Amino acid sequence: MSKQHVLIFGGTSGTGLGAAQTLAARGTPVTVAVRESSDTQPLKDSGVPTVLVDVFDPDSVRQVFAGGNYSAVIISLSGERGVERRADREGAMVIMDAARDSAVRRVLMVTAIGCGDSRVAVAPKVIEVLGEVLAAKQVAEEYLMAADLDATILRPGGLTNDPASGTAIKTSDQTVMGVANRADVGRLAVECLDDPATIGGIFHAIDPEIKWQAPLQRGDDSMHRKT
Ligand SMILES: NC(=O)c1ccc[n+]([C@@H]2O[C@H](COP(=O)([O-])OP(=O)(O)OC[C@H]3O[C@@H](n4cnc5c(N)ncnc54)[C@H](OP(=O)(O)O)[C@@H]3O)[C@@H](O)[C@H]2O)c1
Repeated sequence: MSKQHVLIFGGTSGTGLGAAQTLAARGTPVTVAVRESSDTQPLKDSGVPTVLVDVFDPDSVRQVFAGGNYSAVIISLSGERGVERRADREGAMVIMDAARDSAVRRVLMVTAIGCGDSRVAVAPKVIEVLGEVLAAKQVAEEYLMAADLDATILRPGGLTNDPASGTAIKTSDQTVMGVANRADVGRLAVECLDDPATIGGIFHAIDPEIKWQAPLQRGDDSMHRKT
């Protein structure tokens, strides 16, 4: 993949940052599209260049694509709960359109276990608390899979900020639920990009060595309650 230049949306923290750092560490050119308010220090520390974007503005996103010779895109955007316009739905769709228009065919998107067919993998409490979030991400998933793009979807379950363990795996079994460290899921995202066999596929990202369940999966919604 040495001739690639990867453009990441949602690369300032968590999984997207993990992917950016994985690429930078092995010498693959990578640029992260950030917003005005983003904390870019972790990217600066890792030597990863940034470009400003408004993911809701098609012209802004198109300009970013036009500004580099990109070969692949990673979308690892989150959304704000309770806010109608979501970066991981509307923003992701703007990015997919711009990728297609710029002939950047390879797109990997990080969503969540619980979308689409994987609804069976999550506990009722997950649907009760995150149902709207999962529905929004599912719209983006369906848009990507219907697009004329070389698409891969990677779905984590629970995520931690612990350091990479190196033991996380991806599986095409959409009944699997689990937890993984964001740094490891970032590494798995890059592995998917590297592997053309993942095109058209949907994978769950879990770490079999992490034995505890995500709070909502075990019915604990205390972190999601309004005080
Ligand atoms: N939290 C979980 O346990 C969990 C579980 C399963 C799946 N997921 C999903 O997995 C993916 C990665 O999650 P994560 O926790 O690793 O990510 P994260 O650390 O929350 O990072 C989210 C990224 O999205 C960017 N972003 C959000 N809104 C934006 C906007 N309006 N415009 C531009 N950028 C925006 C953030 O940029 P800024 O720095 O500018 O804010 C950040 O780079 C997300 O899709 C998430 O929903 C999360």
